Amino acid sequence: MLAIGSDHGGFALKQAIMKHLEERGLAYKDYGTYSEASCDYPDFGRAVAQAVAAGEAEFGIIICGTGIGISITANKVPGIRAALCGDCFSAEATRSHNDANILALGARVVGEGLAVKIVDTFLDTPFSNDERHIRRIKKIEGLYRND
Ligand code: RB5
Repeated sequence: MLAIGSDHGGFALKQAIMKHLEERGLAYKDYGTYSEASCDYPDFGRAVAQAVAAGEAEFGIIICGTGIGISITANKVPGIRAALCGDCFSAEATRSHNDANILALGARVVGEGLAVKIVDTFLDTPFSNDERHIRRIKKIEGLYRND
């Protein structure tokens, strides 16, 4: 199960990505927004991040105009590693190295064709499980415990 959400700036791209997920046969839950009416990106970044952190979704996809505000929001939720990607190299590396669990996209930055390829790359790349990457991720998690 995937969790997907956007603000109004990401609404159209979210619709396109959901169509692509359906074509791939991937299940998802849409956390909104549900129209192009102006809204606040933290509401949707938070909802998707909390679904992923709670284990209700394996991965999340979040979209706003730049991808910045919504990724900043998601990264405030403990256990979330949200990566803003504008290219496939970053999408592959953040799954392999950072075990990112949320992909953030900027709908006003990347076109639909590239965004869909970034989504596929992100979803199809496994975490490397390399010791050094596990160690670094544990150091990120240690920030919440101040250790
Ligand atoms: C909305 O106008 C815009 O600020 C938002 O989509 C996003 O880019 C914020 O980071």
